[in-house]
Formats: sequence, structure tokens, C-alpha cells
Amino acid sequence: MILITGASGQLASLITQRAKEAGLLIETASRSQDADRPMDFDRPETLDFSGIRTLLLVSAGYAEDDVVMRRHEAVLTAAHRHGVKHVVYTSLSAASDHLGFALAHRWTERALIQSDLSWTILRNGLYAELIGALAAPRGGRITVPFGSAPISAVAKADLADAALKVLCDPKEHAGATYELSGIAPFSVRHLAQRLGVTYEPTSLSDERIRLSELPLLPFQAPMLLSISSAAMAGFLQSNSSDLLQLVPHPRDALTVACNAAHQASSER
Ligand SMILES: NC(=O)c1ccc[n+]([C@@H]2O[C@H](COP(=O)([O-])OP(=O)(O)OC[C@H]3O[C@@H](n4cnc5c(N)ncnc54)[C@H](OP(=O)(O)O)[C@@H]3O)[C@@H](O)[C@H]2O)c1
Repeated sequence: MILITGASGQLASLITQRAKEAGLLIETASRSQDADRPMDFDRPETLDFSGIRTLLLVSAGYAEDDVVMRRHEAVLTAAHRHGVKHVVYTSLSAASDHLGFALAHRWTERALIQSDLSWTILRNGLYAELIGALAAPRGGRITVPFGSAPISAVAKADLADAALKVLCDPKEHAGATYELSGIAPFSVRHLAQRLGVTYEPTSLSDERIRLSELPLLPFQAPMLLSISSAAMAGFLQSNSSDLLQLVPHPRDALTVACNAAHQASSER
């Protein structure tokens, strides 16, 4: 039996759908009562992995580092206690190392590697949907300070396909770390051209002020600002990716980002 966590979320729901279509025996977990196994990583007593051979741990990363590390530690401890054999963990690409949420991923990777569990690490690139949503135009202009360097973003659907490939034969992928950055990087300038809008990036300072005026949780503003800094500095481009090993025909990330930008603009 395979258990997929974060199942109410966007990435895990895609993986769940594909796994069911592929005929894999799966159960789902999240805090939602709709999950096969409702569980809250913040309440270790709810973590029931009995009868689970393979655990797909989709990171629960929207929180401060200490909270995320505590959540993932609780999951790995419970997985070990319940006799889980193999953990597949959705981490973050090496190109994303400068982002404010990279540390908890690297901590989890280290905890997994040092555990007695068999593992596969999927180092997911930044979602093309995320870049599109963050760079969505306002009044015909994109203003996020993302610079002009290419970003190796990747469609969530490709990351779901990659996870499915591993879940179909976890043993074959044991001990492997896959870098899953997009293979056709695009810049926000490209995105603006494709959308037919202007790109007038503000400064990091102005972006910080804009973020401070939004109803965000304290950890969110620095996390978001780190995406701008890393993009502007050209650190979000990856020179190598293992994506094609798992997904031979990836989607066009720029098109996915454009669709996400359209959607975000229309929802404003
Ligand atoms: N590669 C990237 O670009 C990128 C960017 C941002 C984040 N991420 C990471 O990728 C993960 C998956 O992305 P996504 O788009 O699918 O996110 P999402 O739609 O927000 O889903 C997050 C999932 O995490 C679950 N979760 C949150 N806190 C939990 C807790 N305490 N206990 C159990 N489950 C919990 C949520 O379930 P319930 O709310 O139902 O419990 C939800 O199903 C994120 O959680 C984040 O760690 C990646």
C-alpha cells in the first residue's frame, strides 16, 4: 500500500489521480476529513502509517522553518515506528538553494538519508504556476522585481508524472536524488512578451513595501522576497535537470506560467 500525504493539495491531488488511473493501491492523507487517513503533522498522535509500505511525503512547507522541520521529523519518526519501507520525499531543486524555504527541505533530506528508511528524493523545481501567479500583470504591467535571467520553472503536472514514475517501482529508484528543474527556462520578460504586457520591474525595496501592506503571515514576506532576489540574481536557472529521465515529454513551462498568470489576473 502507498500513502500520499498533502492529498488535498494541488501537487498531491494530481499524483493521486494519476496513481489511481495507473491502478496503484493507494490511500490519501491530509488534515481534511475527506482523506482516507486524516492526519495532522503538527499532532504526531494522528500519524498512522500502519500497513503502509511506501510513503510519498509531500512537503508541508507553508510555515516557519522550525515548524516544517518538526512536522517532517514527526512523519519520519512515525514512518519508522510503523514499519514503512520506503519514503519518497518532494524536496526543492538545487537551483532554489537561495530561497527562504530551502533550509527545511535540506534538513528533511539529511534526516531521511541518515534514517534507516529506504528513500527517493524528488528535488522539484519552482512551479511554473507559481512564477505565473507571482508575475501576473496588474493593469497591463508586470512589476515584480524578477530581473531578466531565465528561471527553470516546471509544470506541476510534470512533477506529478515524475512522482508517479517513482511510485510505480520505488525499489528501482531507491537512493536516487532527482533534480527536477524545467528544461526550457524562461524569464519574466519572456512571460510579459507572451502575454502582450509591459515588464517594468520595481526595486526589491518597493516590493518589500508592497508585501508589507498585504495580509501575509510573518514568514511569507521574506519567503516571497527571496524568490525575487534569487530570480534577479539569476540563481533560479538550472544547468542540469533529471526531468527527462522520469518525464520524457515535459509540458511547455512558459505556456503553463502564462495560463497561471491569466488566471491570477482574472481573480484579482
Ligand atoms: N516547488 C515549488 O515551487 C514550491 C513552492 C511552494 C511550496 N512548495 C512545497 O510543495 C508542497 C506541495 O505544493 P502544493 O502546491 O500541492 O501545495 P498545497 O496545494 O498548498 O498543498 C499543501 C498540502 O499540505 C498539507 N498540509 C499542510 N500542513 C499540514 C499539516 N500540518 N499536516 C498535514 N498536512 C498538511 C495540506 O493539507 P490540509 O490543509 O488538507 O491538511 C495540503 O494538502 C507545499 O506544501 C510546499 O511545501 C513547493
